[in-house]
Amino acid sequence: MREKQLDPRLEAAAEMFPRVHVGADIGADHGYLTHALLTRGIADRMWVTDISAPSLEKARRLMAQSGLSGRVCFGAGDGFLPVGEPVEAAAILGMGGVTIRNILTEQAHLLRGCALVLSANSGITSLRRTLMELGYRIEQERMTEAGGHFYPVLLARYGEGTGYTEKELALGPVLLKKPFDDVYRRYLQKKALDWAAERGPAGEEKRQWIREELDDA
Ligand SMILES: C[S@@+](CC[C@H](N)C(=O)[O-])C[C@H]1O[C@@H](n2cnc3c(N)ncnc32)[C@H](O)[C@@H]1O
Repeated sequence: MREKQLDPRLEAAAEMFPRVHVGADIGADHGYLTHALLTRGIADRMWVTDISAPSLEKARRLMAQSGLSGRVCFGAGDGFLPVGEPVEAAAILGMGGVTIRNILTEQAHLLRGCALVLSANSGITSLRRTLMELGYRIEQERMTEAGGHFYPVLLARYGEGTGYTEKELALGPVLLKKPFDDVYRRYLQKKALDWAAERGPAGEEKRQWIREELDDA
């Protein structure tokens, strides 16, 4: 079966995913990312997990139809709990930021320093903070857009921890490096609207971040 055309968010994740022998797709649902990683030769083998057995079944069907089942281990359960061996990199995409943070903090002992490719539907500032607290450094970031919503996608590596400013945690330490692409510029314009009515010194500080970036872009 030919590779399914990935949406911009999944395409960014596939492009960022490091070349690995064994990787993991946590909360894989349909399994499109794993399908792309295996067919493109980015991963030799993958662990595909989902907390929902019916979701996992979709991924299982896709791999069977594509002749890829022999390169995949499936596991139903929370986060990394079903993953039966150390993996070099894991993707966790398409969940709320709180869910991803809970997996990373409650299962930190199971990460074993693997690289992380992440995209949260919400709560990106807190997710970046959690990565920093766990000793991860954000190496790549890309802003993607689908259906009027913005989805940052990032690659984080363990062991090169760094301190991020509040502005970097909110807007992305790598995304803030110029030149900006059109999607990120639109994202900043949306953040300006979101923060327009935020009261007090915190709101003023956030609006100042946007002015610094857009006036200067
Ligand atoms: C919206 S889908 C995203 C699918 C795919 N990762 C993507 O980004 O296109 C979210 C999936 O995460 C699964 N999920 C939610 N919480 C989870 C958890 N704690 N552990 C594993 N999977 C989880 C859901 O069952 C669902 O299949």
